[in-house]
Amino acid sequence: MKYLELISRNPEQTQKLGIRIGELAIAGDTILLVGNLGTGKTCLTQGITWGLGIKDYALSPSFILVRELYGRLPLYHIDLYRLDHLEEITDLGLDDYLYGDGICVIEWAEKGLNLLPIENLLIHINYLSDTERSFQFQPHGKRYTEITAQLKDLSLNS
Ligand SMILES: Nc1ncnc2c1ncn2[C@@H]1O[C@H](COP(=O)(O)OP(=O)(O)OP(=O)(O)O)[C@@H](O)[C@H]1O
Ligand SMILES: [Mg+2]
Repeated sequence: MKYLELISRNPEQTQKLGIRIGELAIAGDTILLVGNLGTGKTCLTQGITWGLGIKDYALSPSFILVRELYGRLPLYHIDLYRLDHLEEITDLGLDDYLYGDGICVIEWAEKGLNLLPIENLLIHINYLSDTERSFQFQPHGKRYTEITAQLKDLSLNS
């Protein structure tokens, strides 16, 4: 499946979507999140941590670029919001995370697109209303086409 759009009607539905992604994740997965301030990138990531069995996730604003969390698999939560220069990605050794043993979830991925793995699950999040968001899944590569197909039947409002 090459494209999928799901509508979330509240934060809990976004978390539920994240939980499913966390359950489906395997080592090496790269998930790129693109969406304006406050659309729900971190909310989705919180769900992903739960889906991986990570208990201690706090939704606090982060000033660090990478957070390492350990569940069924390591989760590297990367936030490129404060990235000023593309070279910082190389300087900070992000490749160790990107090509490591865990899964990477990257907020503000558009800031680093040229240096991120070409095979990835790209998720565009759009603001529809105070409580509604659209999640558009664009898989790049076979592995991500499979995950997208598995998300198709997810019912967010039950
Ligand atoms: N359907 C929804 N899904 C996700 N968040 C929602 C939804 N409806 C309302 N919200 C609210 O939108 C906000 C999303 O915040 P969040 O920190 O996840 O955004 P973000 O995209 O990570 O922002 P930033 O760009 O600052 O990192 C929260 O306050 C949340 O309660
Ligand atoms: Mg965020």
